[in-house]
Amino acid sequence: MSVTVFSPAKINLFLAITGRRADGFHDLVSVVAPLEFGDELVAEVGERRTEDAGRFTLKCDAADVPVDETNLILKAAKLFARTTGWTGAAHFRLTKRIPMGAGLGGGSSNAVAALRALNQLSGGRASDAQLEAMAAQLGSDCVLFLRDAPAVMRGRGERVENLSAAAAARVRGRRVLVFKPSFGIATPWAYGRMVARGGDYLPAAEAEARLAAWSAGGAPVEELLLNNMEPAAFEKYLALPVLLARLREEFGLAPHMSGSGSACFALLRDDQATAPIVERIRAAWGPPASAIETRLR
Ligand code: C5P
Repeated sequence: MSVTVFSPAKINLFLAITGRRADGFHDLVSVVAPLEFGDELVAEVGERRTEDAGRFTLKCDAADVPVDETNLILKAAKLFARTTGWTGAAHFRLTKRIPMGAGLGGGSSNAVAALRALNQLSGGRASDAQLEAMAAQLGSDCVLFLRDAPAVMRGRGERVENLSAAAAARVRGRRVLVFKPSFGIATPWAYGRMVARGGDYLPAAEAEARLAAWSAGGAPVEELLLNNMEPAAFEKYLALPVLLARLREEFGLAPHMSGSGSACFALLRDDQATAPIVERIRAAWGPPASAIETRLR
């Protein structure tokens, strides 16, 4: 028996880091949308066994993805077994499309895909509340991927609330170009730069006011866009602000970085041709840069 689970990427349409907490993490207010683009995870039931060795295994088509215990898929599987008492075994096969170190949530999404797959294979042993608790324990972005809808994240990311239906309708189905240079940006490094710079935080009340005004009004997503991690990342990775400025000037786009980068995105009009934009990206960042045209889910 096997199940196949889609594991979407995400982008942060709005990301306001509001301050540093006593536990070293940061508080944030963010609007996040899953994409139609993502990875695929297949889980196949293995032979039932009680010992942990070889109980959960992972294979991946991309050589640079670690398939050992450091992969969140295997951490999620062990947590699922511990939490639910499920005694089965499973072999995972991941088809990787979401680039790593991109701020597109690939690792968190894969972890949630693993929880979903095991919950199906085990006949639904985990309650919704248990799935949510496991996701929160696995990573700051994980709870979001349980919703599979545009959502607001608060706290360190684990407090997730759906957008109102009217606001979600302005998000869903929008065309977007997601593009990434050949280098990635490590999330802990980016937060460390924010701490060192000190002045980039947006007070929580201001972030909430901006979000509330956009949610209650009728403005398109373009008016919501914000990422206050950009100054920290742009200071070192100059290729990002240089290209984004070009895309603003030449194509009238409003491009932004997603999460802690290095992936960026630009919302597209339905009639906008992508080929000249992709050509401009490749000219600036070189052919290893990836560009994916997709839609917000
Ligand atoms: O939870 P996650 O593994 O995504 O976080 C990676 C790192 O990013 C954390 O160890 C922390 O340094 C930083 N981080 C943070 N505040 C957040 C999320 C992540 O400082 N809300």
